Amino acid sequence: MKLVHTNAELDQLVADAKAEGKRVALVPTMGALHEGHLRLVDIARENAEFVVVSIFVNPLQFGEGEDFDRYPRTLEADVEALEGHPCDVVFAPWVEEVYPPEGKPGKPTERAGIIGSTFEGAARPGHFDGMLTVVGRLFDLVKPDVAVFGQKDAQQLFMVRKLAGAKFEGLEIIAAPTVREPSGLAMSSRNRYLTPAQRESATVISKALRAVGFAANHGLPASYCIEAGLTLFAGEPETKLEYLAIVDSQLFKPVNDKFKGEALAIVAAQVGGVRLIDNQIIEIREQDA
Ligand code: PAJ
Repeated sequence: MKLVHTNAELDQLVADAKAEGKRVALVPTMGALHEGHLRLVDIARENAEFVVVSIFVNPLQFGEGEDFDRYPRTLEADVEALEGHPCDVVFAPWVEEVYPPEGKPGKPTERAGIIGSTFEGAARPGHFDGMLTVVGRLFDLVKPDVAVFGQKDAQQLFMVRKLAGAKFEGLEIIAAPTVREPSGLAMSSRNRYLTPAQRESATVISKALRAVGFAANHGLPASYCIEAGLTLFAGEPETKLEYLAIVDSQLFKPVNDKFKGEALAIVAAQVGGVRLIDNQIIEIREQDA
């Protein structure tokens, strides 16, 4: 496994791999790697012979007052964690390599559109424009055949698929299932900010999603399913719910009560000031007889 910081070094390694006929996979991350990220790396290798993991804390996707400055930067530990996984290159570019010539991001060059201003986009204005800009840039630099993203960030995945479909013909986007702690809490680099008590409170997020999924399985209309989840939040005052919704997976728009079929339950909540998101694929069935 090689650690590189420049586009020139990366180019050479990717060109060599392609010359050997290898398919190239990219796993974009911001580091502070946990088992969720590492699972993405394993999935990448199942789909390609050469795996590049990028580690870059992208200033352009953090809003004012967000945690860009205190976002954990743990490159040494990340490289160590990747040693046990099938990763060929760790690409941890200097900021000037991503945003030349001076490392100043400037304005986003990608636009996330209307869906990009709902849910996560509403809570974090400009976030998706900045995320898509860096993902597009990484696709340009690495030129992967496959890129792996986590289902954990469902709206991000939705946007990335759109970007790939519009601008990166032939690039396959693979969704990796969410890796959870035994308590059900979805793994996240931000979980490290939680105290043990807050971690416990945060389990309401996945419990609420399961309650929504359970109600959906019994054929309850979407708004009733959401109510089932809200009830659990009502009993957890430490946790500040931002949204709990059911969206059509194809459109990322809320479904109405007539909707039947596969959908996505999405949630965002703050626990002790830490913003956490999660989601679950659900099936709204016909009403029980
Ligand atoms: P980051 O938050 O580091 O996440 C990197 C990738 O890991 C994303 O595709 C995310 O969905 C996935 N991931 C995070 N937690 C996961 C979990 N518990 N189970 C499975 N996958 C998980 O998302 C970003 O970085 C950035 O926005 C990025 C795409 C790198 C662009 O800067």
